[in-house]
Amino acid sequence: MHRKSTLDVRIKSIKQETATIKRFTLQELNGSKLPPFSGGSHITTYLPKEAGALERSYSVFNLSEPGLIEIAIRLAKPSTGGSDYWHHRVTEGDVLKISYPKNHFALSFQAKHHVFYAAGIGITPFLSMMADLAEKEQSFELHYTAKSKEQCAFYDHLKKTYPGHCHFYFSEGEKPKRLTVNLLKNHRIGTHVYFCGPEKMILEFTNAAKSFGYPAFNVHYERFAPPVKKDSVPFGITLKKSGKHFIVPTEQSLLDVLRQNGIDVPYSCRVGGCGTCEVKVAEGEIDHYDSFLTEDQQRSNRAILSCVSRGKGNLVLDI
Ligand code: FES
Repeated sequence: MHRKSTLDVRIKSIKQETATIKRFTLQELNGSKLPPFSGGSHITTYLPKEAGALERSYSVFNLSEPGLIEIAIRLAKPSTGGSDYWHHRVTEGDVLKISYPKNHFALSFQAKHHVFYAAGIGITPFLSMMADLAEKEQSFELHYTAKSKEQCAFYDHLKKTYPGHCHFYFSEGEKPKRLTVNLLKNHRIGTHVYFCGPEKMILEFTNAAKSFGYPAFNVHYERFAPPVKKDSVPFGITLKKSGKHFIVPTEQSLLDVLRQNGIDVPYSCRVGGCGTCEVKVAEGEIDHYDSFLTEDQQRSNRAILSCVSRGKGNLVLDI
């Protein structure tokens, strides 16, 4: 849920993990503990006005002392503002607002074995998930790709903390090694797989898992950004109750247009992964881009996740 309540936190320390990734340790202002969180959780950070009041979500972990929250941010090129601000403007001692931790990428309670596939900064949700599993002495393994050891964030921590659980794939150097979907063929029945990385990797691994016969509920993934939409075009919406009509332009989401027009649709992840922004649809066809609705739900054209999905032509919304 979109929450109005936020927490003020202080930047306790900043550590350069790789040439492009910084780790930020956050602490409560008066020294008490920040709220606990489960493996796979994230927070939304609210950057100040001069950064354009940017809201950004980051996976949380804690490799330091209890009661702290840590996030890791890769400097994106080009940056849409968030990572650039974090890397170049935020300094130790700064105070900023964050949301309470939320979890849309939770560990399965039913898995007999958990396998994590990470590419680059996609390692971050798995740091807290592996910590949870290690504490409960549950079975897991990590397959993690980066360009090189130097660009592999948390390499030393992972090697030292989870010996025997972590497999690294460095795509550059003298002996490049690629992380491939064929690994998915090796897992025993009852395994749940989790993917986090760039859109291309998510698509490749989710499609492969499907074609190798993984049940949909054994496959979990988290996106950093809304999925890329091919040839996005404007579409119309009509609100069934009031008869009001709006156009959703190419560069805006349905969620943005509804909220701008005073319709308080709740939201959380903004990448189609949590279901919070669902709106019922009375008529019309939908281009679904979310990773939350089941295939049957998508086919029925009865609900749209307004942060990412779009209409074809005109949609009549049941609101
Ligand atoms: S806000 Fe999470 S699916 Fe739209």
